[in-house]
Amino acid sequence: MNKTKQITLLINGRTHRAAVPANETLLETLRGLGYFEVKSGCEKGDCGACAVLVDDEAVDSCLTLTWTVKTQRVTTVSGLGTIEDPHPLHTAFIERGAAQCGFCTPGLIIAAESMLRNDTRDPSLDDMRLALSGNLCRCTGYTKVFDAVTAAARVVREEGGPK
Ligand code: FES
Ligand code: FES
Repeated sequence: MNKTKQITLLINGRTHRAAVPANETLLETLRGLGYFEVKSGCEKGDCGACAVLVDDEAVDSCLTLTWTVKTQRVTTVSGLGTIEDPHPLHTAFIERGAAQCGFCTPGLIIAAESMLRNDTRDPSLDDMRLALSGNLCRCTGYTKVFDAVTAAARVVREEGGPK
């Protein structure tokens, strides 16, 4: 029998309380709550399309059981900014043409944000290759993605954002 667990999630600054099956993934929970910007790709940890921040770390939500997140902060790509006040990564991906079909874009932006918060605000090409190595893109060839992350990192440094 699959037990349910009572949880509280803080998603993009909004509190959700729910009873979730113990085997439910964070990807299933997020999409069930309407956070469709979190993409469902391989559902086995290969593509990175489902990445979200848990506190400040990027995780594959398809590999994360929801109850283990407990009361930590969950941030999706939509939680990083708004249309009126976009995150520098949002702006750079648009301006540099780093999104084509866009399916991988939420995960790429989350992985890049995790790098900017935890590792470096002045990434080399190798830093970016490593940070985004868990995110598969079928369209862009990555050059424009790295251009966009470089441009966004410059803005973040100028704004004094994540280290
Ligand atoms: S859907 Fe989670 S890694 Fe592919
Ligand atoms: S933009 Fe299409 S998979 Fe990356």
